[in-house]
Amino acid sequence: MKILIIGGTNFIGLSVVNRLHAIGHEVTIFHRGKTVAELPIAVKEIKGDRTQLPEMKSELQYLSPDVVLDMIAYTEQDALITMKAFKGIAQRVVAISSMDVYRAYNVLLGKESDIVPVPLTEDSPLRQQLYPFKDIPQRALNAPADYEKILVERVVMSDADLPGTIIRLPMVYGPKDPLHRLFPYLKRMDENRPAILLPENFAQWRGCYGYVENVAYAIALAVTNPQATGRIYHVADLPVSEAERLNRIGKAAGWQGKVISVPKQHLPANWNLPFNTEQAWFADTTRIRQELGYREVVTQEEALKQTIDWERTNSPPEMTQWTGWELFDYATEDEILTQL
Ligand SMILES: NC(=O)c1ccc[n+]([C@@H]2O[C@H](COP(=O)([O-])OP(=O)(O)OC[C@H]3O[C@@H](n4cnc5c(N)ncnc54)[C@H](OP(=O)(O)O)[C@@H]3O)[C@@H](O)[C@H]2O)c1
Repeated sequence: MKILIIGGTNFIGLSVVNRLHAIGHEVTIFHRGKTVAELPIAVKEIKGDRTQLPEMKSELQYLSPDVVLDMIAYTEQDALITMKAFKGIAQRVVAISSMDVYRAYNVLLGKESDIVPVPLTEDSPLRQQLYPFKDIPQRALNAPADYEKILVERVVMSDADLPGTIIRLPMVYGPKDPLHRLFPYLKRMDENRPAILLPENFAQWRGCYGYVENVAYAIALAVTNPQATGRIYHVADLPVSEAERLNRIGKAAGWQGKVISVPKQHLPANWNLPFNTEQAWFADTTRIRQELGYREVVTQEEALKQTIDWERTNSPPEMTQWTGWELFDYATEDEILTQL
């Protein structure tokens, strides 16, 4: 199958490129050429900005991909451009979305109030307010102010001439994770902290995470299986509480310390998480398992080991964005421990 990937040089995208190439597909990636990735030799590259795609019709026609995988559609405009560029050329567009489309995400952030039942299914209610990051000055991964996966999904799924597929991703971890999701825990473990304290409500909270290679496998299935046409899928690890997740990370890291859940009254004010942890945020993954035969191709033990190995040699350069419990304020942590 001929597959064109928009993006494909960074974290999740590169893992998808490798997987699709390994199972024998003809892969071309489209990116600006600012990010240099180690690609399999047979993978072709087209350089350009995604905003230029509609003017590149003849080149895209010549390539004639069967499926276009848009890894990096963040805005409605991004999605409109992709659909315009590939209408009459490709048979299907697969777009990468996020679990942040759900109303549960806004309840978690305290922007909407009624708790949404979990696990989330692909039919769970979506956020009522659009543009979740518009008022946040420092947006993760330089997301634009008009970032909105709900609108991306709507555009990709509403064109009768060019059908779509959507994959909603969880919080993805693994080697090359630009957000270093495991780092605040691992740093404490590697600095031989005797205990890691979790605010009680957060210790019990369940979120959705996924290992990059498993997520890439799910995306590859959705790209290559025509049964995915017109469908929306989740992918995620099986959910566990944050305390249990931390225990598993500790085990994989060879840490001898303890995870301690701390009642609110023992915590300093700046440790108050800006989340409504009454709202869990994990997803049911039955649909992708039943319809596309998804299963984890990497065990969680191996996934954590690979991630830890990478985090240990690639610590984030600056940590000014960490706040509250993520601050490495060991004096305060020790004081809390003595009070418990
Ligand atoms: N990380 C998570 O936990 C998480 C969670 C939920 C959803 N997601 C979704 O996952 C996707 C990101 O995955 P990824 O980081 O692995 O992406 P990726 O497929 O590796 O794509 C990133 C690459 O896209 C290229 N690019 C960026 N802007 C471009 C532009 N204007 N025109 C052409 N190419 C451009 C860049 O290469 P050049 O610099 O060479 O252009 C960049 O390296 C996003 O849709 C995100 O919303 C991620």
